[in-house]
Amino acid sequence: MRDNKQLSETHPLSSLDVWEDDLLQRYPDPESIATAKSTEEYRNYETPGRDSVREFYRLNHQYQTFDFVQQKKAEFLSFDKKEMSIWDAFQFLNQLVDDSDPDTDLDQFQHLLQTSEAIRADGHPDWMVLAGLFHDMGKVLCLFGEPQWAVVGDTFPVGCAWSDKIVYPEFFRDNPDYQNPQYQTRYGVYSPGCGLRQVNLSWGHDEYIYHMMKDYLPEPALYMLRYHSFYAQHREEAYEHLMDEHDHEMFKWVRLFNPYDLYSKNPTPPDWTQLRPYYEELVAKYLPATLKF
Ligand SMILES: [Fe+2]
Ligand SMILES: [Fe+2]
Repeated sequence: MRDNKQLSETHPLSSLDVWEDDLLQRYPDPESIATAKSTEEYRNYETPGRDSVREFYRLNHQYQTFDFVQQKKAEFLSFDKKEMSIWDAFQFLNQLVDDSDPDTDLDQFQHLLQTSEAIRADGHPDWMVLAGLFHDMGKVLCLFGEPQWAVVGDTFPVGCAWSDKIVYPEFFRDNPDYQNPQYQTRYGVYSPGCGLRQVNLSWGHDEYIYHMMKDYLPEPALYMLRYHSFYAQHREEAYEHLMDEHDHEMFKWVRLFNPYDLYSKNPTPPDWTQLRPYYEELVAKYLPATLKF
């Protein structure tokens, strides 16, 4: 059993939701700015979780090296850890309970369901609804003992220069890749316009769920899964130089998806018993009976 000190060294966030709450501070909902909440409220950024978010990014930026990403791909993309039915997998994911803020936080499944329901309510294709339902399933990595900084957080390319548009860029100074001149040029190990399929992003729940789903969902859904935390590109456009025409086309879908992830949180949980038949049919339409982890 790890003691508390060790635990806070690898898990500075009291829950994974703290990272997502921080995203909302950085990218507030344009609609609530215009209506209820004042911009002032968003600028008041002295929230208690802030130090832990800083500490989280310090670790993330220090340890996400090019080699680390290759190691994690080798370790997890063989999918030989566990096999579960889809609904058992959601229950498994829900063991990531957040006990820090019982008033406002819903469990992981509720976030997924609210995302997918918001997509469905707007009449988007059913595979996009499914992408909404599964986009954070990769957070089960935490339940396999992975530290938070290797599961969540904004993702970014490794093996080439880091953009200063990435949150807390100063922490990259402590990353061993900073000492490797090959990784410190604009293109690094890649070539201009090579396409994101050639590019390694920092390891986390996005890449993992993309690989889990890649044989089953249409390509725009796969882009949503794979790049939903790549804020440095989908919000900041800092890596256009690595993208090809096809990526640009597909990123329209990633941008369409992002607000459903960020702004669909609602304190009232959807009625699962009523929704269940719809989702059972949807899941059966696209996915096998069990998923490999
Ligand atoms: Fe996510
Ligand atoms: Fe999410």
